Amino acid sequence: MSYAWQLSNSSIGVGFGTAALGGNTYDVVTMALESGFRKFDTAEAEWWYDQGEVGRSLTDFFTKKDLNCDNLEISTKIPPWSLTSFSDIRLHASNSRQELVGSCEDIYPEESQEGVPFPLDVYYIHAPQCWKGWHPRCDNPPSTLDLRDAWKAMEAVVGLDYTSKRIGLSNIHPNELLDIIQFVNERIEGGENNPTPRLPDAVQAHSDPIDTSRELRELCLEYNIEFVSYSTLGTQHRNVPENPVLTSTVVAHIAEKHSRSVAEVVLSWALQNDMSVIPRSSKKGHIEELSRLLTSPVFLDSTDLEAMETLSSDYIGEL
Ligand SMILES: NC(=O)c1ccc[n+]([C@@H]2O[C@H](COP(=O)([O-])OP(=O)(O)OC[C@H]3O[C@@H](n4cnc5c(N)ncnc54)[C@H](OP(=O)(O)O)[C@@H]3O)[C@@H](O)[C@H]2O)c1
Repeated sequence: MSYAWQLSNSSIGVGFGTAALGGNTYDVVTMALESGFRKFDTAEAEWWYDQGEVGRSLTDFFTKKDLNCDNLEISTKIPPWSLTSFSDIRLHASNSRQELVGSCEDIYPEESQEGVPFPLDVYYIHAPQCWKGWHPRCDNPPSTLDLRDAWKAMEAVVGLDYTSKRIGLSNIHPNELLDIIQFVNERIEGGENNPTPRLPDAVQAHSDPIDTSRELRELCLEYNIEFVSYSTLGTQHRNVPENPVLTSTVVAHIAEKHSRSVAEVVLSWALQNDMSVIPRSSKKGHIEELSRLLTSPVFLDSTDLEAMETLSSDYIGEL
């Protein structure tokens, strides 16, 4: 049996998503930590996320168990309605860092360098701009910076404030990503250095075996940008009676062949196509199942990968 893919890109990995967990956020994040997850995704956008509860769960888990935060990778996102000024963006990043991983300095202060905080992993712009109906706050948004100016503030978050190790963009169109790449390269050529121009380290976007986001993924591969797939398990297909990804007979057949679950097959498909994944579950059994990917992410062979391709080509579409 031939395996088409190896874990070649070290930035590709398995994390845990925390959207739509509501009042269960604290307990679910604790369960995910107990199952071995150390990479979490959240956002400043209340209504979808409860970043405060993610932070509280992380603090309690690491403090009670007296664990070192070294392997902790936390990403969060600034919403478009908060992109109001250079200083506002830097302040939001700093406040989120404090809320999520601020306790890491208290856990082992002797190891943290003076003036350099324990950083977030990725700080994202959640979307370049608001659109009506996306979030209640977008119904009447304030005036905000354009994406190029907002990106310069993001560069300061990494290069001047050390609040985050990396910066990224989410819900971005390929043309907008190309514009930011051009903006950064022009400033590198012009010798600008305050803040140091920086290409996006990561892009977070929807991709599942039916809607694969191919153009954006190819762009990310070309520029060595980590592509983080969200809603990989098919939750964006809302206009059909059942989730077409989790109920696919193609996926069920592959799952049976490998004695793995349907969710694991879908996520392995993403990993084997150079995407990081951040699945979300509220159920202990499902979380434990997902955690098997932390130690065994690669199990699809080339025949399986070819069969997975048919999900996008054969899909007849939403109602
Ligand atoms: N940047 C953005 O704009 C954006 C947008 C959407 C999402 N995200 C991020 O991406 C994360 C993941 O996306 P998502 O929340 O849309 O959903 P998802 O991870 O694609 O799917 C979640 C669904 O899959 C089910 N599930 C999980 N594990 C399962 C298993 N082992 N077996 C069967 N079903 C399973 C869950 O049900 P149970 O709870 O019953 O297990 C839940 O209904 C989010 O939590 C968030 O962090 C970002």
